[in-house]
Amino acid sequence: MSRIEIAASLMCADYLNLEAQIQVLEAGGIDYLHIDIMDGHYVPNFTLGPDFCRRLAERTNIPLDIHLMIENPDAYIPIFAVFGNPALYIHPETSCHPLRSLQLIHKCGARPGIALDPAMSVETVRPLLPYAEVVCVMMVNPGFAGQELIPTMIDKIVYLSRLITEEGREIKIEVDGNVSWQNIPRLVEAGAQILVAGSSSIFEKGSDLKTNIHRLYELVG
Ligand code: DX5
Ligand code: ZN
Repeated sequence: MSRIEIAASLMCADYLNLEAQIQVLEAGGIDYLHIDIMDGHYVPNFTLGPDFCRRLAERTNIPLDIHLMIENPDAYIPIFAVFGNPALYIHPETSCHPLRSLQLIHKCGARPGIALDPAMSVETVRPLLPYAEVVCVMMVNPGFAGQELIPTMIDKIVYLSRLITEEGREIKIEVDGNVSWQNIPRLVEAGAQILVAGSSSIFEKGSDLKTNIHRLYELVG
């Protein structure tokens, strides 16, 4: 089994201290920078955008992990795909032709990803699996940090993990939302391979980022 990877969720970072935090993330060997893109339509919130991704990709070699929580993703895939060989995740229900969207991501040179809303079953996206390199299983309703994990999502990871093995696919499973110190062991046991670490772990309020990164890699090491 390959090593568990960590994607630091930058919507939970300290924006006024971002440069220093990027340095700490680099020194700590963080695998990906998870960027939540929201449009105020598909999800009732706004966060980061293409300029933010551009500046990041200029500043760091850590690959970006771009989570598109937006309607009409096809219009924006070519814009986001250029930022340092990112993984680009779409929520299939935001696209009329999600398979075409995944093909477009691939064509634009990025790694195609499926993001699974808690209400979407694994079976719904099964026909898309041959076109994806990674599936991001949401543990919470998309849109906000600081929510509680929905317990039935654990079984969903187990089911997806089994399906990927049975079908012999090279697809990684990412988990996003309330990936806390307490939840991490059961998420990994269920089959998670990439952990989106936000306010529940490495950006936890009142604790030190460097210490939290070490704690996280020790926990999954
Ligand atoms: C939601 C976001 C959040 C967040 C994770 O779309 O991706 O899940 O960054 O942070 P916490 O730990 O607050 O859930
Ligand atoms: Zn996300």
